Amino acid sequence: MAVEYFEDTRTFRLRSKDTDWVMQVVDEGYLLQVYCGAAVPDSDLSWLLRLDEPPFVPSVNMRDKGTFMDSAPFVYPCAGTGDYREPAFEIVAPDGTTASDLRYSSHRIYSGKPALDGLPATFAAEESGCETLEIVLEDKFTGLEVTLVCTAFEKLSAFTRSVRVKNCGIQPVFLKNVSSMCAEFDSSDMDMITLWGSWARERIPERCRLHHGVQYISSGRGTSSHQYNPFAALCVRNADEDSGEVWGFSLVYSGNFKALAEVTQHDCTRFIIGMGSDGFLWKLEPGETFTAPEAAAVHSLEGLGGMSRTFHDLWRQNLIRSPYKFRERPVLINNWEATYFNFDADKLANIASEASELGIEMLVMDDGWFGHRESDNSSLGDWFVNEKKLPGGLGALVERVKGYGMRFGIWFEPEMISPDSDLFRSHPDWAIQIKGREMTMSREQYVLDLSRSEVRECVYSQIKRILDSADIAYVKWDCNRQITEAGSLALPADRQQEVMHRYILGVYDLMERLVTDYPDLLLENCSGGGGRFDPGMLYYSPQIWCSDDTDALERLKIQYGTSLCYPCSAMGAHVSVCPNHTVGRTTPFSTRANVSLAGTFGYELDVTKLSEEDKSAIPGQIALYKKYGRLVRSGDLFRISSIFDDPEYHALMFVAKDKSEALVEYFQVLGRPNRRSRRIKLKGLDPDAVYFEEKAPEKTISGAALMNCGINICGLWGDCQSVIFHYIKK
Ligand code: GLA
Repeated sequence: MAVEYFEDTRTFRLRSKDTDWVMQVVDEGYLLQVYCGAAVPDSDLSWLLRLDEPPFVPSVNMRDKGTFMDSAPFVYPCAGTGDYREPAFEIVAPDGTTASDLRYSSHRIYSGKPALDGLPATFAAEESGCETLEIVLEDKFTGLEVTLVCTAFEKLSAFTRSVRVKNCGIQPVFLKNVSSMCAEFDSSDMDMITLWGSWARERIPERCRLHHGVQYISSGRGTSSHQYNPFAALCVRNADEDSGEVWGFSLVYSGNFKALAEVTQHDCTRFIIGMGSDGFLWKLEPGETFTAPEAAAVHSLEGLGGMSRTFHDLWRQNLIRSPYKFRERPVLINNWEATYFNFDADKLANIASEASELGIEMLVMDDGWFGHRESDNSSLGDWFVNEKKLPGGLGALVERVKGYGMRFGIWFEPEMISPDSDLFRSHPDWAIQIKGREMTMSREQYVLDLSRSEVRECVYSQIKRILDSADIAYVKWDCNRQITEAGSLALPADRQQEVMHRYILGVYDLMERLVTDYPDLLLENCSGGGGRFDPGMLYYSPQIWCSDDTDALERLKIQYGTSLCYPCSAMGAHVSVCPNHTVGRTTPFSTRANVSLAGTFGYELDVTKLSEEDKSAIPGQIALYKKYGRLVRSGDLFRISSIFDDPEYHALMFVAKDKSEALVEYFQVLGRPNRRSRRIKLKGLDPDAVYFEEKAPEKTISGAALMNCGINICGLWGDCQSVIFHYIKK
């Protein structure tokens, strides 16, 4: 049983694999969090609430209500009634006041979990069954009913939470903050790990000791952003890659978010994750319901590695719906870094012809095929083929490419509109804007007001026409700017602060239509590289372009940081040319391929311009992908080292779930003078089994020795070298 209710103490216990999350309804109806951590047999842990310790206890028996409110570990804390810590829930009531007071009203427990209205969310899957507890809290003053939807997964140490708010009152209420999850810890002796970044250097891990006050990451950009990922971990101070207690939190949402930890006056820590509340105000009419996105929490006693593996399993089993989630992805070649905007049908056909000879299976035509787009300054919104570049239309090009035995993929940026476009000329009001204010231009484009159904309809019908006009197997969905002047000409004044969320709901609506109408389409998300790499997007696309930085060494860092929360099967990773277009660095072709191997694998270069030596290496690289791709997609990731801790080298491995084989990747970032071989210890193998490395089948070695004694890496000469090993169980 993943969810239990103990009537005598009014206690709920959610148990996920070996982790408990316990809540209790106390006197006066407040719902408190009793415990979250390693599973324990006891059903009554109420002493942990310290309700018998004056003065921080409820108001009955001369107890002080105010101090209770400001110290109790609330499951869903609200504002204005004595809790001065960060709230998860804030409103503006019909009388203009901002207090709320949520108390238990009812609950129900059921197997499985519900889908969320218009939002991505994890689902029950065979591999990891789940049970759900819905607890209804009410604010009698306004008539608001807040339902916490709490799911526990049976075979993964993972929990999810989402929130529904129903206005059962008789007047509209404004929602200011509807966060998805709050977790309370009776300790402040923890570190917080977040992923920060920028364009071309996304998701760099940063670990800081918690301090009194609020530490906070967020995005107000309309996308989850390059700058901060909607992920945070709290861990004990001595937690490392393989040991120590870690809680990881992630928001299944692609727009504005916040994640914060507050260390309080009593050295406790409150953690909250949810939609961004700056600039958010949602008008909820009587009878209406608002659904906040889902947050996930995973617990690990095996350090950061354990946390990551649980996230990877959760997303792969219970979030990604695409038929491609474990399936081999076609080896593609994308023309962006090969040609940028400067291409025509002949150029693309030449690339396809040469690529097909080498074993590449799909040509992806990137930005520049539509309207009259020759650079980034026009035509977004005009999704019809530029016949000057592609004479005879898309069908003619696709048939040519198919003639080489390849499939075809195409780039769209559906959420955008160029001022120089037919669409903008006929519908200037369709861009997100504030009437009377200058619209900030970014990458020479504006953002479409996807909160409007007629705008979505127009974009979708254009995309559909293109997809129906030719045999298209793959779509790259890009989003290359952030939102400014968040306003909609279609909404009244008291709904303008709903635009950011309505926009994302519009994006989800479009993607849902796309994956429903084209269930076999391979969809890859992208946002100026990796600016929207979040679980919300994974619900629609099994892979996301990780970064516009394709340099092998930079990618080691980006893919390492990304792997804290996301599976390698989701990381768009291509081999590109050197000197690299972003950093000017030259790395060996084989190293670039080995880095891509730990992602979706593909090429992003003009194969017709490659040296014969590089060209002749491609079939072998593809063979490696064919051989190891399954392990990467469905195995367990073990990070052996971190390039951030020791920038001289990097090592990781993928272990089959049944531990029958493992792929080890080692990267020597810098050559080492006068040193002996480097020893690395493998992880995740069966200690009692005997393994051999494929290149030396006669030499067997126990899993215990591989993990406890390690292997010596020798023979690498120079910078940016790499080697891979394949260990097979005998
Ligand atoms: C973004 C993407 C690139 C490419 C360009 C095209 O930057 O990340 O891969 O598609 O847009 O404009």
